[in-house]
Amino acid sequence: MTFRLAPSILSADFARLGDEVRAVIAAGADVIHFDVMDNHFVPNLTIGPMVCEALRPHSKRADGSKIPIDVHLMAKPVDRIVPDFAKAGADIISFHPEASDHVDRTLGLIREHGCKAGLVFNPATSLSYLDYVMDKVDLILIMSVNPGFGGQKFIPSAMTKLAAAKKRIAVEVARSGREIWLEVDGGVKTDNIADIARAGADTFVAGSAIFGRSDYLATINAMRSELAKVRA
Ligand code: DX5
Ligand code: ZN
Repeated sequence: MTFRLAPSILSADFARLGDEVRAVIAAGADVIHFDVMDNHFVPNLTIGPMVCEALRPHSKRADGSKIPIDVHLMAKPVDRIVPDFAKAGADIISFHPEASDHVDRTLGLIREHGCKAGLVFNPATSLSYLDYVMDKVDLILIMSVNPGFGGQKFIPSAMTKLAAAKKRIAVEVARSGREIWLEVDGGVKTDNIADIARAGADTFVAGSAIFGRSDYLATINAMRSELAKVRA
């Protein structure tokens, strides 16, 4: 089992984003989670393709290997900005099905632009959106908070939803052999990450839990040692 830690830069120091990205990568981050909010789909406003492009050169390890930028679009509509993010160096682009009138088309658009495509599920959104598009999905993101803000409390029903998503992934992997990531976002902390992994998640977004503490290495190591218990 491969577990990936994806610090959300939403909780980073926005005046020093490049340094923050390099610091969490040095501390062992596997993915950089990039939250895009439009004050329309969600009641907050953050960063766009220009910031993604500015961070792209910073999103690599000391040996030069690339760390994926995982763009979580909380914006509506999405199709207009997908090519902008692809050009800005996004590796994964995820969107909420409620934010696209044509979910199948948007998934195709993301892939045509060379990125992995993800679908994001709000706490009250049904996984049935996956029924006819599993073959076009590279990542499923389960929201364990209502999107818009960092630092919220984990909503427990995300656990059963992760397990249900995991089952759908197993069916698709058996059919196609493709890899599909199961990501969780919201309220992930050192003290609940192992249980979340047991529910089926393999990729863990954590914003305030990592950037809210001064020692990123200590937090990431603590999360990894919790995850190691799941592996055992
Ligand atoms: C919430 C964002 C999250 C956020 C998570 O709308 O999608 O990525 O940064 O923050 P924490 O980990 O603090 O709940
Ligand atoms: Zn997010």
